[in-house]
Amino acid sequence: VFAHVVKAPEDPILGVTVAYNKDPSPVKVNLGVGAYRTEEGKPLVLNVVRRAEQMLVNDPSRVKEYLPITGLADFNKLSAKLIFGSDSPAIQENRVATVQCLSGTGSLRVGSEFLARHYSERTIYIPQPTWGNHPKVFTLAGLSVKTYRYYDPATRGLNFQGLLEDLSSAPSGAIVLLHACAHNPTGVDPTLDQWEQIRQLMRSKGLLPFFDSAYQGFASGSLDADAQSVRIFVADGGECLTAQSYAKNMGLYGERVGALSIVCSSADVAVRVESQLKLVIRPMYSNPPIHGASIVATILKDRALFHEWTIELKAMADRIISMRQLLFDALRARGTPGDWSHIIKQIGMFTFTGLNREQVAFMTQEYHIYMTSDGRISMAGLSSKTVPHLADAIHAAVTR
Ligand code: LMR
Repeated sequence: VFAHVVKAPEDPILGVTVAYNKDPSPVKVNLGVGAYRTEEGKPLVLNVVRRAEQMLVNDPSRVKEYLPITGLADFNKLSAKLIFGSDSPAIQENRVATVQCLSGTGSLRVGSEFLARHYSERTIYIPQPTWGNHPKVFTLAGLSVKTYRYYDPATRGLNFQGLLEDLSSAPSGAIVLLHACAHNPTGVDPTLDQWEQIRQLMRSKGLLPFFDSAYQGFASGSLDADAQSVRIFVADGGECLTAQSYAKNMGLYGERVGALSIVCSSADVAVRVESQLKLVIRPMYSNPPIHGASIVATILKDRALFHEWTIELKAMADRIISMRQLLFDALRARGTPGDWSHIIKQIGMFTFTGLNREQVAFMTQEYHIYMTSDGRISMAGLSSKTVPHLADAIHAAVTR
């Protein structure tokens, strides 16, 4: 009965790792998936995470019971504070409904399923380009996906004019997906001034912001600075949705820990919204896993652990920034044709190199460098040992 099933293509991002794993070359480098690596090229478990896990293991009162459908209550409260700020009026007025979800993707999915059921407008505008999973998540949830201009290939920066024009012509009430910081895949973010203009435009047209916050603390090294975009929207008293992930900033990739927060107009609405979120979650996965959320809650509620986390987070962000400089210098030293200043101007985990599909294929074939075909490289996967090899590959690809 399944003989007609055709083989699906690999995922454009996770499939890069599949190809990388098959390559026997000793010089291979995986710059595909956005996952942090140490200078030695190894995955990193933060010390603070190890300590929190130790505390959990040694606590005899901990059991493996089901969590509520909405997840760990402490985790939800602390996650909302982390993104909106502890002095956020929306939190103080109990206007935020937060549910623990399966990392960023799960939060986006639950949020968009809720919107498809309960929100008047079914169209979501996503930036062009955006993370490859976004259109799939929203379409499967029942939303219709349109794009707004975001990236300008000529400047390798923001097409701010295009963005404003496209949002101006979106139908009133449409949902708009915004990357809270460290836009994936471009590494190009609006300035605070530009965020303020986007906010004014969106509020004047009644567009509903849906923030994807997958990199809080990873862009600048500061948790507060990286949440500014979200906070200016919440400060005006209007509604928004936020999907948070702890994959990158706590290195909890495989634990699948995240949160969806819906900022509502009143505490009463928030209670009703939360009750409906439970109806989305229960038939999908019943209730979320306990371990990762317990790690996060342990760290967020303990002053000393929280402080230790911010230091480790800053160290990861700083190492990525130093890789940008190293790669830029290496290309300059080789006299590689082109202006590569976008490597140091772009922020967060990724550089959108501007290399085309053929150049990427050449680099994979000849240099065993694995990256997504749109020319995105994960700076977090680089080390000072692999930068020269990457610079050689880029140089060869553009001078071919
Ligand atoms: C990425 O863009 O590489 C990450 O967000 C990982 C993923 O799930 O695609």
